[in-house]
Amino acid sequence: MDRAVAIAHRGPAHGPNPRVGCVLLGPDGTVLGEGWHRGAGTAHAEVAAIADARAGGFDLTGSTAVVTLEPCNHTGRTGPCVDALAQAGVGTVVFGVTDPGDASSGGAAALIRRGIPARLEPHPGAQVLTRRWVASMRRGRPYVIAKWASTLDGRMAAADGTSFWITGEEAREHAHRVRAEVDAIAVGTGTVLTDDPALTARPGGSPAAHQPLRVVVGTRDTAGRRVWEGGGALAIASHDPAVVLEELWAREARTVIVEGGPTMLTAFLRAGLVDEVHAYIAPALLGAGPTVVDDLGIGTMRDSLRGQAVTSERLGADTLITALLTEGV
Ligand SMILES: NC(=O)c1ccc[n+]([C@@H]2O[C@H](COP(=O)([O-])OP(=O)(O)OC[C@H]3O[C@@H](n4cnc5c(N)ncnc54)[C@H](OP(=O)(O)O)[C@@H]3O)[C@@H](O)[C@H]2O)c1
Repeated sequence: MDRAVAIAHRGPAHGPNPRVGCVLLGPDGTVLGEGWHRGAGTAHAEVAAIADARAGGFDLTGSTAVVTLEPCNHTGRTGPCVDALAQAGVGTVVFGVTDPGDASSGGAAALIRRGIPARLEPHPGAQVLTRRWVASMRRGRPYVIAKWASTLDGRMAAADGTSFWITGEEAREHAHRVRAEVDAIAVGTGTVLTDDPALTARPGGSPAAHQPLRVVVGTRDTAGRRVWEGGGALAIASHDPAVVLEELWAREARTVIVEGGPTMLTAFLRAGLVDEVHAYIAPALLGAGPTVVDDLGIGTMRDSLRGQAVTSERLGADTLITALLTEGV
């Protein structure tokens, strides 16, 4: 399973499908083939592994398939993996995470009905790999990361509205790498009108091969701003975070970053629609200017929103704190 997880990481983190890896083992434990999913519309990991084994001239009768995710049991852009495994003669299937998808789940039961033992062996690496995707499928909405850069005193911008640059180069580089792994970046019209961000993913200073959908939320006119350059950006004229997420889900976005400003962040947090926080904190003080979030309707300490699985990382002079906010992610 460690190997299946390692090769799964070669696949894209963005897109409607999760990263999946599969290793086919012979009865003596020899690796007969391996494959990973390269993104929606391409072969699933199991099918890629079967093709790899066949290319090597191996007979898969009685082999064991070790897959990071429960094999799918439905026809989407490709056929069911359950059929492919059965037709190839695979004898046993072991998987690291159960598929929660409405349409794609039930693969293990379907395999067992065909006389192919299939069992879940929970694997932390496989869970990390699919965590955001599994959460989005369970919720039926995109997984939401709220990202911001702030000063030590929690300011997102100075009194005059300027926010370039609160954090240093390392922190900004990190944020570009995260952008390259998600399906969409959403900001409010306030950020577009004040900061005029391009909202593109430019890790290492160059545009990433995958560019997330750029989304502007609000009703004000933002024509002529950089976000519209090159086409393809999306305007959502709503103040309701649930409507924003519905629209993005319909466009097959599974992971979205909300990058501010404070109005948007407050609305998403208030609605309980933030799964993960990325707070880049600079060792600077401003004393005035907008704070990251406004009133969340929390009146007492007991009701404060508390992050779990908190990590911190030094990025130059700045610190990135990540935390999970919702249950079951
Ligand atoms: N440090 C950082 O990480 C960071 C990141 C982004 C922005 N900023 C700073 O944030 C400041 C801009 O703040 P902002 O709050 O105006 O930005 P914002 O949240 O990006 O935009 C606010 C606008 O979003 C729309 N909106 C979306 N959902 C809403 C809701 N639930 N309720 C009300 N309005 C909603 C409204 O647009 P309409 O009025 O058009 O309907 C509202 O005026 C700037 O100074 C910028 O530099 C800092």
